[in-house]
Amino acid sequence: MKPIETIMRTSPVIPVLVIEDAAAARPLAEALVKGGLKVLEVTMRTGAAIEAMAEMKKVDGAIVGAGTVINEAQFRQVADVGAEFIVSPGLTERLAKPILEAEMPLLPGTANASDIMLGLELGLEHFKFFPAEAAGGLKALKALAGPFYQAKFCPTGGISAATAPEWLAFDRVLCVGGSWVTPKGASMEDVERIAREAAGQKG
Ligand code: 3PG
Repeated sequence: MKPIETIMRTSPVIPVLVIEDAAAARPLAEALVKGGLKVLEVTMRTGAAIEAMAEMKKVDGAIVGAGTVINEAQFRQVADVGAEFIVSPGLTERLAKPILEAEMPLLPGTANASDIMLGLELGLEHFKFFPAEAAGGLKALKALAGPFYQAKFCPTGGISAATAPEWLAFDRVLCVGGSWVTPKGASMEDVERIAREAAGQKG
């Protein structure tokens, strides 16, 4: 299992994927990986998510994780299908403990100082900052990062191709997450092109 820091440093952008049709998953993963985005977050928001992860894992080079994991039952389900990391919109002890016991890389959502303190108490130092723009944007993250010198972040929520570079220029940001890489109705050629642009962002 790769540590979460290695996963976060693999590509500057983690596509946040909401997959309705598992048949579309493999070509999508191929286009993203070809474009240079290897870390793929499949959100547990659709009935197709589990099958989509299984399909995406067939793609060489893809590092497939599960997003929107909010309880232990979902964690067990995605671990069974071979998810390589877990992303959650928030952080509770009840969710984090079994994931950490299983030594599964975890990127839990944090939006304030108490969330980060809970994470540090659990031995975590890598956090999603969510919802990044709505929770105050880069200004809020910089203010939070001050006291928590050991914390590193993947801001997600409301980030776009235009704003990603500003976030990535902050040294405590190892990567950003976002759904802009796979716009609705985009062809696989479009996805590959957008992925290539995103992969070229400097961290
Ligand atoms: C998430 O699940 O992390 C966010 O909903 C993704 O946010 P975005 O759609 O604004 O990129």
